[in-house]
Amino acid sequence: HWKIRVIDLESLASWPIQELFTLPSDADGNPYVYREQQWHQQELVPVRYNQQEETLYKTGGVYVVIGGAGGIGEVWSEYVIRMYEAKVIWIGRREKDANIQAKIDRLASIGPTPSYIMADATDQEELYQAYEEIKQQYGPIHGIVHSAIVLLDKSLANMEEERFRAGLRVKVDV
Ligand SMILES: NC(=O)c1ccc[n+]([C@@H]2O[C@H](COP(=O)([O-])OP(=O)(O)OC[C@H]3O[C@@H](n4cnc5c(N)ncnc54)[C@H](OP(=O)(O)O)[C@@H]3O)[C@@H](O)[C@H]2O)c1
Repeated sequence: HWKIRVIDLESLASWPIQELFTLPSDADGNPYVYREQQWHQQELVPVRYNQQEETLYKTGGVYVVIGGAGGIGEVWSEYVIRMYEAKVIWIGRREKDANIQAKIDRLASIGPTPSYIMADATDQEELYQAYEEIKQQYGPIHGIVHSAIVLLDKSLANMEEERFRAGLRVKVDV
């Protein structure tokens, strides 16, 4: 439960000794930097480009995200929905639950509502059915993202073959 301040000073400058002990501590351990009698702290800020960058994304395009209801899939979907009004289809093994519905509802307030298809993408038959369903409803598909993972981290030497296969299958078979 120590409270820690990380302070970066110039070796040859005079130090604001009093202030060193009154700065608030930073729970993340980010340093305070003292330069030319001024304190600075690092901070992440969004970068905004003025120029529209060249892109391969198609406005109003159809994008399939395998594992799309997961963390990265949701963030990526938000980006293409916001920027390109993309029609996004998520594929996942779970039945659509309240959690997935909440993600869909949130993104629907930004642009076209994403849809969800329950399928195990390592299973060729199920994936093919999903493909048929998407083609029927949306026509051409403009992009596919593989964002599925089954997280079974463990050092390789301590891993049973079945665990290794389960983690690898979702990458290789999909
Ligand atoms: N988050 C990170 O820090 C990080 C770092 C490096 C790389 N990545 C990569 O980013 C991608 C997404 O990761 P994430 O963090 O978003 O993971 P996540 O939140 O666990 O999402 C992964 C999604 O994949 C789905 N999935 C797993 N097996 C599937 C299968 N057989 N068929 C269909 N869907 C399946 C899961 O849903 P169901 O369980 O319902 O199927 C889940 O929604 C992965 O390729 C991962 O390797 C992430």
